[in-house]
Amino acid sequence: MHRIGVVGAGYVGLTTAACLAHLGHDVVCADVDEAKVERLRRNEVDLVEPGLAELLEQHDIEFTTVFPRDVDFLFVCVPTPSGEHGEADLTAVHDVVAQVPENTVLVLKSTVPVGTARGIAHQPAVSNPEFLREGHAVEDFLRPQRVVVGSADQDAARRVAALYGDVPVVLTDNTTAELVKYACNSFLAVKLSFVNTLAELCEHVGADIDGVTEGMRLDERIGAAFLRPGPGWGGSCLPKDTRALLSTASAQNVEFATVRAAVDTNDHQVRRIAQMIEGDRIGLLGLTFKAGTNDLRDSPALAIARLLDGEVSAYDPAIRHDVDGITVVGTPEELADGRDVLVVLTEWPEFAELDWPALADRMTTPVLVDTRGVVPAAKVREAGFRLLSVGHPD
Ligand code: UGA
Repeated sequence: MHRIGVVGAGYVGLTTAACLAHLGHDVVCADVDEAKVERLRRNEVDLVEPGLAELLEQHDIEFTTVFPRDVDFLFVCVPTPSGEHGEADLTAVHDVVAQVPENTVLVLKSTVPVGTARGIAHQPAVSNPEFLREGHAVEDFLRPQRVVVGSADQDAARRVAALYGDVPVVLTDNTTAELVKYACNSFLAVKLSFVNTLAELCEHVGADIDGVTEGMRLDERIGAAFLRPGPGWGGSCLPKDTRALLSTASAQNVEFATVRAAVDTNDHQVRRIAQMIEGDRIGLLGLTFKAGTNDLRDSPALAIARLLDGEVSAYDPAIRHDVDGITVVGTPEELADGRDVLVVLTEWPEFAELDWPALADRMTTPVLVDTRGVVPAAKVREAGFRLLSVGHPD
């Protein structure tokens, strides 16, 4: 077992630190945010990540603001936000790389533009992109469908892969490993935009998106996942990584038309949903970019809310504070009070189980827009609602 440093205590860094400790390694995790480090030392985690708090409790991880120097491997898990033109801002990555001691294997987990590792002087440098879904990060780390490791030093890459235990490994060079990350997230975005347009078409021709996608998902070449239509895809990864891939491609004079179309389709989806919502007093059911997280970054719910003219309130089981001028209330009933329309924007399972007659009673005009296809249509209509459901004809 090894001594491992993790720099960055966001959801990727913290998951990496906790899971590597769980796999038996001796882990030190550093972050520049002193208050966060203090909280972590008290075992306080502000992420909604199942299993993470338990792992941090079980294992003795050292949290520090001091750069870890006495380590065999150093995982870089700092953010790489999008710059003005879609390019990734690598300031934090370069700061870390400049401090890595000699003889330490540098492991780049942060999502970095294709070609970044090749330009790094420190050796060995292993590109090891993460494929952690928010809300499933621990599970995805401990039972990965694959671990991708790329390096000019294949022995170092193999040693990094071995840290994960017995898992499927893709062993390659740095640049290829970097591109895998963008390829995966962009492919998922293409799949989702395809389905969102298909849902729009279903509404026009009188077909049902659930039946269409059921017929698609049973074809193993297409695959079962990422076929649910929604208000548009969001979060801290898909929007950022599609922009970054487009920017990389255009720097090489490559027109990545499918990804460009996926991004444009997503913008269209947000506008289309906003147009479906009519009323002066609007209640949003869900604000987070997906269920199972309290993350609001690049949430389509907020993008849609910005386009609405009426007065907007919201209920979200993971959000307790007002957001972007939207009043956040404590229960769905409170949300329904005096509203003209309710809109389901996040697929929280509890939204399938609401007391529809009680909600309808509290509203001025019971109209429900379901962008996630999660409400039981027959029950909702029976309760007196007019239901507009994405991908389902009236
Ligand atoms: C995504 C990838 O799934 C992870 O593999 C990757 O590691 C991560 O980005 C990252 O780059 O760090 P995440 O952003 O947590 O994970 O969210 P997803 O579960 O992929 O969902 C992305 C968006 O697609 C959400 O807005 C979600 O609501 C939407 N979505 C997903 C749908 O609208 N329909 C679906 O069927 C699936």
